[in-house]
Amino acid sequence: MAWAWTLLAVWVSAVASPCFAGDPYAYFDWDVSFITAAPLGVIGINGQFPGPIVNVSTNWNVVVNILNDLDEPLLITWNGIQHRKNSWQDGVLGTNCPIPSGWNWTYEFQVKDQIGSYFYFPSTGFQRAAGGYGGITVNNRDVIAVPFDKPDGDITLFLGDWYNRDYKDLRKALENGKELGMPDGVLMNGKGPYRYNRTLVPAGIAYETIHVHPGKRYRFRVHNVGISTSLNFRIQNHNLQLVETEGSYASQQNYTNLDVHVGQSYSFLVTMDQNASSDYYIVASARFVNQSHWARVTGVAILHYSNSKGKASGPLPDPPNDVYDKTYSMNQARSIRWNLSAGAARPNPQGSFRYGSINVSQVYVLQNKPPVVINGKHRTTLNGISFSPPETPLRLADEYKLKGIYTLDFPTRPLKGAPKVGRSVINGTFRGFMEIIFQNNHTKVQTFHMDGYSFFVVGMDYGEWTEESRGTYNKGDGVARCSTQVFPGAWTAILVSLDNVGIWNLRAQNLDTWYLGQEVYIRVVNPEDTNKTELPRPDNALYCGRLQKFQNEQTPHHRMTSYATVSCRAFELVMFMMMMLLVSVATLP
Ligand SMILES: *[C@@H]1O[C@H](CO)[C@@H](O)[C@H](O)[C@H]1NC(C)=O
Ligand SMILES: *[C@@H]1O[C@H](CO)[C@@H](O)[C@H](O)[C@H]1NC(C)=O
Ligand SMILES: *[C@@H]1O[C@H](CO)[C@@H](O)[C@H](O)[C@H]1NC(C)=O
Ligand SMILES: *[C@@H]1O[C@H](CO)[C@@H](O)[C@H](O)[C@H]1NC(C)=O
Ligand SMILES: *[C@@H]1O[C@H](CO)[C@@H](O)[C@H](O)[C@H]1NC(C)=O
Ligand SMILES: *[C@@H]1O[C@H](CO)[C@@H](O)[C@H](O)[C@H]1NC(C)=O
Ligand SMILES: *[C@@H]1O[C@H](CO)[C@@H](O)[C@H](O)[C@H]1NC(C)=O
Ligand SMILES: *[C@@H]1O[C@H](CO)[C@@H](O)[C@H](O)[C@H]1NC(C)=O
Ligand SMILES: *[C@@H]1O[C@H](CO)[C@@H](O)[C@H](O)[C@H]1NC(C)=O
Ligand SMILES: *[C@@H]1O[C@H](CO)[C@@H](O)[C@H](O)[C@H]1NC(C)=O
Ligand SMILES: *[C@@H]1O[C@H](CO)[C@@H](O)[C@H](O)[C@H]1NC(C)=O
Repeated sequence: MAWAWTLLAVWVSAVASPCFAGDPYAYFDWDVSFITAAPLGVIGINGQFPGPIVNVSTNWNVVVNILNDLDEPLLITWNGIQHRKNSWQDGVLGTNCPIPSGWNWTYEFQVKDQIGSYFYFPSTGFQRAAGGYGGITVNNRDVIAVPFDKPDGDITLFLGDWYNRDYKDLRKALENGKELGMPDGVLMNGKGPYRYNRTLVPAGIAYETIHVHPGKRYRFRVHNVGISTSLNFRIQNHNLQLVETEGSYASQQNYTNLDVHVGQSYSFLVTMDQNASSDYYIVASARFVNQSHWARVTGVAILHYSNSKGKASGPLPDPPNDVYDKTYSMNQARSIRWNLSAGAARPNPQGSFRYGSINVSQVYVLQNKPPVVINGKHRTTLNGISFSPPETPLRLADEYKLKGIYTLDFPTRPLKGAPKVGRSVINGTFRGFMEIIFQNNHTKVQTFHMDGYSFFVVGMDYGEWTEESRGTYNKGDGVARCSTQVFPGAWTAILVSLDNVGIWNLRAQNLDTWYLGQEVYIRVVNPEDTNKTELPRPDNALYCGRLQKFQNEQTPHHRMTSYATVSCRAFELVMFMMMMLLVSVATLP
């Protein structure tokens, strides 16, 4: 009998720390294909739209084998995952060759030193406009307390504008200099609006229902995965208690509504404290547009209490009334603060990283403008340069010492003179501290995102940024995140510690402006000759462009028939149950 208990003890300690030598692994097998999610034609994953949620904890290893069942190349990027030392897995054209149609490729990365709510999506060819996205949830390790009581449920909500036109038509329209115009609607978890108004919403549309119990508290993870529409999110009669912004615990505050810009993610705690006299509306409505003209472009889902006495009815909860207050949304953004005393991925409090006292070593002012015509093509620019997607990934080009793929001369200020197409990259200093000011000279809100990092949002205001603007920076509790909005005619300043070696994409999250060239890469190289600060090129790296000759052909696969998802935890559970069985057998009289 003693041997059995010893075995059990050994097993438990193995579970408590790692799974197989080191941190646990979670495995996924995904078939990415066109599916019909009635009535929409979309990109689904294993037949699902939105795709499955990658639910892991800090430091876990994630292995995702992706079969490209589309009719064109595919890359999946892991928005907000920092890929420490490992830009090889970032899934953008600067670091990875696209997976050819019919091939599979396996991503393997660790969610090192991170917690929070993120999402993945296809990063090329405007494919995100057709779906292909899903959630990534990185839970705290058990040893680090979450700064609020465990919620009674965890709900992921994808919001996004939607066009019924095929994404290939949409990208062609953009290339031809056409605006996409008003979207056909706003989807919530891939579904259309509840019929809250018989004139505005036709009959027979499938809508999302969130089932809840009275008195319970839920964590809503809300992502704007749309193309270009900023959305105001609100739940009728319920407070949104903001707790997380893309991997940072925020200072908890209640909002009745919050603007979620394209590519941004937030977690809210919502207490079911209403008397369930009816169901309640969950709303995502377009912002900074003519509300009455855009009324039909409103996402509406239903919050259904288990003791609800009837359907939701009446008008939707009001959007912010800020026609004459253009700082409303900006003030709301400024009110989001970092909880300095909360621990997150590491046990020490978030505020122990005193970003406000670090000296800045590099400053970039990045100005975006509305589309322009360059050499007869419609393009968007940053600092007057429109990024031309590389045929050979920049990171691979470095590995093979190829010249002429890109230039390391991105200007620190907007270029004067005619805009141009180029492949100019920011030379980031390893372990430096960079200040980036996004200056939005467009007439629409833009969101800017940086791969590989989390940055501090320290200031935003209308007008031109000047050196004096630094006086207004929040040097204490600006929130750390990976996507920030920049209002039209305004600037947003961020600070970022360049401690992650690799080549990292910095882009507009708005799909239309990104597609036309509004992106750049930041190259961060350790001048020391060491293999400690970056992982080696993965054995399965794909080759393309000037390195095509290294690529072995893959026989195109057929559509997979089963979608096995084996996780270390599931394996542990089976092992544990077997062990308990052994123990009980051994302890029988
Ligand atoms: C995600 O994982 C956490 C921790 O393992 C677990 O508590 C939670 O129930 C999971 N959530 C979902 C939606 O599977
Ligand atoms: C493709 O999938 C097969 C079977 O799962 C796997 O053995 C192989 O390593 C995968 N190829 C790549 C390049 O990931
Ligand atoms: C439905 O929407 C139309 C158009 O905005 C509006 O005129 C009408 O009053 C709405 N109906 C109800 C019942 O709210
Ligand atoms: C926020 O809202 C919740 C639920 O409505 C409430 O319990 C809590 O007291 C509010 N917090 C603050 C700071 O107002
Ligand atoms: C509770 O429900 C009744 C109808 O059943 C409604 O008249 C009343 O306003 C509700 N009270 C609150 C606080 O929502
Ligand atoms: C807003 O849209 C409505 C309906 O299309 C239109 O009648 C109105 O003139 C517009 N308002 C402004 C300020 O453009
Ligand atoms: C900040 O985090 C601490 C946990 O360290 C928590 O107790 C506190 O309620 C949080 N404060 C706010 C304002 O979110
Ligand atoms: C920052 O720069 C100032 C002035 O150059 C210098 O005195 C200070 O020591 C520096 N601080 C750090 C943390 O390097
Ligand atoms: C890039 O920056 C490093 C310092 O971080 C410098 O040594 C190098 O010369 C720069 N390269 C170019 C091409 O400017
Ligand atoms: C764009 O920049 C020009 C020149 O600085 C300025 O006059 C104009 O107001 C700006 N437009 C916006 C929308 O910021
Ligand atoms: C790193 O380099 C050292 C010495 O050159 C070598 O022994 C080691 O195997 C390398 N590690 C990796 C992960 O490549």
